[in-house]
Amino acid sequence: MIPRDTIQSILDAARIEEVVGDFVQLKRRGVNLLGLCPFHNEKTPSFTVSPAKGIFKCFGCGKAGNAVNFVMEHEKYSYPEALRYLASKYGIEVEEQEPSPEEKQQDTDRDSLFSLNDFARKFYVNTLFETEEGKAIGLSYFLERGFREDIIRKFQLGFSPTAWDTFTKTALQNGYSEKYLVDSGLTISKDGKHYDRFRERVMFPIHNLTGKVIGFGGRILTSDKTKPKYVNSPESEVYNKSKSLYGIWLARNSIVARDNCFLVEGYTDVISLHQSGIENVVASSGTSLTTDQIRLISKFTRNITILYDGDPAGIKASFRGIDMILEQGMNVKVVLFPDGEDPDSYARKHSSSDLEGFISTNSDDFIAFKTRLLLDETQNDPVKKAGLIHEIIHTISLIPDPIIRPLFIRECAEIMQIAEQTLMNELNKLLRKKKLKGYESESQEQIPEPVIIAPPQELAPDISDCSAQ
Ligand code: UTP
Ligand code: MN
Repeated sequence: MIPRDTIQSILDAARIEEVVGDFVQLKRRGVNLLGLCPFHNEKTPSFTVSPAKGIFKCFGCGKAGNAVNFVMEHEKYSYPEALRYLASKYGIEVEEQEPSPEEKQQDTDRDSLFSLNDFARKFYVNTLFETEEGKAIGLSYFLERGFREDIIRKFQLGFSPTAWDTFTKTALQNGYSEKYLVDSGLTISKDGKHYDRFRERVMFPIHNLTGKVIGFGGRILTSDKTKPKYVNSPESEVYNKSKSLYGIWLARNSIVARDNCFLVEGYTDVISLHQSGIENVVASSGTSLTTDQIRLISKFTRNITILYDGDPAGIKASFRGIDMILEQGMNVKVVLFPDGEDPDSYARKHSSSDLEGFISTNSDDFIAFKTRLLLDETQNDPVKKAGLIHEIIHTISLIPDPIIRPLFIRECAEIMQIAEQTLMNELNKLLRKKKLKGYESESQEQIPEPVIIAPPQELAPDISDCSAQ
């Protein structure tokens, strides 16, 4: 609990333009400041900050609020977390009060799930390092796989015991309620009986942006083909798969520093790259890549490099990823690993500098990537070559920025040995078609109500006349 007068000093100290300015580039427009909204994808700025009123408002998506609301929304913090963030930014000391029994009672579902997941993380780590079974089966697997102990600890990897309900029993004994055990997916309840979802598996905790555990993936260690290789937590109040990225909490600073994000397929790829000294890496584990995941990356950089296995499935996933990333107005490069190798297996067989070298010499932009792959199949076949050109133009048409599109058209014309104007005409045809289609679906679509984040009542800012100037 943060005392009321401390909350007030934080609110008094926080200057909205400074708080927002840490995340969004703002330009002065009259008495207000203007920038690109970090909460939705836009090309022309409609995100307004009013220093005088201490609030922000986006005229595109409708999000609005004060400095605390901004930090809550942008960093996915709870209200007290946002206050603590601002307190540290402004050097205000926070002396926490012990919560009263009633306040303890009022713990939200989210807090309970976070707390249970954190308990589970510690339990699995402890089982890995401190029990005979964990050391003999789990830890020896990780070490044999080549993971160093510091990396195992950094990623908080663990082991789930073999017995049916060791975790569930321990959690109940420690006062965690059955409701949250089931809601988190850690416990499965069937015919009045409880058992652990994860048994005899090495455990990969999945964290949110701020490093709190939101779910788990568990990998089998036997070669039993009747059981799935990985079991993952179901979605819950705190775990939304399409909005989570494995490794983002450890990657965010490095993504900003390198102004690039490597995108890989799974847990083991992320971990192996860290072990090789590459930290700006995340995985869309558990789902295929989503637009929300790309938007999460776009908070930190406009550049994504896809690192996938060069098998047919990896190539297909790269094609899909390229289109989705370009559609978000971001830049994309692709590195395919030799067929049958993923970043994890490659990193294990090569030195860090070999890996860095491989990535930098094999980073292709999407045109070079598509042509290189498809040209082999289309050699000397004009019909197939035309198909390839259409394929590339389709991808170019997804780029929202009209200044960037012609640059790629020029590159395509050079590689494919075809007149730039011909390609430009094709692109324009496609764009006109899309525009027509867009109008049709727009008129049918309901425009959603803008969402305004509700701050606690007494702190509600007056947003009635914060208009763009
Ligand atoms: P792999 O099959 O390569 O997993 O999948 P692995 O653990 O590295 O196994 P080996 O040692 O190479 O045989 C790569 C990533 O895909 C995800 C995991 O994140 C894994 O790290 N994955 C794979 C799943 O989420 N579910 C699955 O069933 C399989
Ligand atoms: Mn693998």
